Amino acid sequence: MNYLLFFLLVTVTILSLGCKEVCECPDLLDKLYWPDRSVLYTEEAGCVRNITCQSTYDSTFVDFYFTDSEIPRPVDIINDYGAANTVNSDAPTGPNIDIFEYFGMVCENNEWYITKYPRGVTYKTTEEELVIGANGEIDGKKSKIESFACEPPS
Ligand SMILES: *[C@@H]1O[C@H](CO)[C@@H](O)[C@H](O)[C@H]1NC(C)=O
Repeated sequence: MNYLLFFLLVTVTILSLGCKEVCECPDLLDKLYWPDRSVLYTEEAGCVRNITCQSTYDSTFVDFYFTDSEIPRPVDIINDYGAANTVNSDAPTGPNIDIFEYFGMVCENNEWYITKYPRGVTYKTTEEELVIGANGEIDGKKSKIESFACEPPS
């Protein structure tokens, strides 16, 4: 047996096993709305994260641009902003949730996306705020995360 070859094979195998778990995406906390980064955040295998927040209408949500989303841009929108909320505007608080899981966050081609919209997407018209997709019909469509806000659990 060629020991050098054996040693190389073992080394390459160990290295490739180790590399599989490394996430190639940028730091997701760079997208956090508030600059203090003091949220309950843990990194799990690969690109899986756990971001635990209180579900509140005003302080836990994800913002994106319709131009960076697979969701068709509403015709009556006044800007390009969509917001995926964690509760309805009429029910301002809920339990703590892991928003990574809640919004189906994924990393693809070095970008972070959301793929689930449990409360739909809120956008502004000249008159009012409207919600689309609250029935789950836009789930699966990718929207690039512009920023997210998280109210830490109390
Ligand atoms: C996420 O983190 C929270 C707070 O540390 C914990 O209670 C929860 O069980 C975690 N969820 C998962 C899926 O690991």
